[in-house]
Amino acid sequence: MEITDQEFRRIVTYVKSRYGIDLTQKRTLIVGRLENYLTRGNFDSYSAYMDIVEGNPQGKEAAELINALTTNHTYFMRESDQFDFLKSHVLPRLRTQCNSTKDIRIWCAASSTGEEPYTLEMILRDYFKLVEGEWDTSLLATDVSTKVLETAKRGRYHKDQLDNIPSVYRKCYFRKVSVEEYEVTQDIKSRVIFKQFNLMDPIPFRGKFNVVFLRNVMIYFDDITKQRLIRRIYDHMETGGFLFLGTTEALDRSRINFRYVRPSVYQKV
Ligand SMILES: C[S@@+](CC[C@H](N)C(=O)[O-])C[C@H]1O[C@@H](n2cnc3c(N)ncnc32)[C@H](O)[C@@H]1O
Repeated sequence: MEITDQEFRRIVTYVKSRYGIDLTQKRTLIVGRLENYLTRGNFDSYSAYMDIVEGNPQGKEAAELINALTTNHTYFMRESDQFDFLKSHVLPRLRTQCNSTKDIRIWCAASSTGEEPYTLEMILRDYFKLVEGEWDTSLLATDVSTKVLETAKRGRYHKDQLDNIPSVYRKCYFRKVSVEEYEVTQDIKSRVIFKQFNLMDPIPFRGKFNVVFLRNVMIYFDDITKQRLIRRIYDHMETGGFLFLGTTEALDRSRINFRYVRPSVYQKV
């Protein structure tokens, strides 16, 4: 099925305005990811499909479109330096900062198929194991794609995907379910709350966060979209809280209220 220039621009405009994702240079990606789906679904053209998507932006086809067009690459312990910093600096600091409430709230804001929030939850469990019961840590994991959230909630991974996980975590927090597959234990799963959320929407969550992981998602957004998102996230963080970006990402320090801590880590002061 051929895509016309006009149809391509229509998809780019729709995805940018609704999800912030800039696909201007991604014609091949759009065709590669949608063509088969449209053919199988007996849509006559990209226009016919977009009529349905735009006619009901909360509907099934709109969800399928964004499921198809997001890039969800992730893995356990990704950019492990940051997890080391979380363990060695951030959690000890928060333990002091939040000692009166014993309540720590973490948001993993583009959680994809679950590897990142489960990594976080394993680290939290490990860190707080000696004072379990005393501390109330909550971990919210969100993504715009309903497809990746399904995978995340299932919590099953091929054995090769566990390669980066320290063996002690593997032993404590996974169980083998077949020759090839491991599943995150129910205990870990039940502590991660997965929700669908589009980062372009007003943040609806009550309570402010002590830590936000916003890694490897702003690479798809333009500068203005990034600035606006960072401002909204700032407003939903506790003073003293930490923001983690992907290690290739940085904020323009002249335009933010966050304090720079180290590459890709910022603090609300
Ligand atoms: C490359 S993955 C990064 C996953 C993980 N944070 C990591 O660093 O490994 C980017 C994720 O951002 C999500 N995403 C893209 N645009 C989004 C939006 N507007 N709102 C929420 N999530 C979005 C995608 O669905 C995808 O799962």
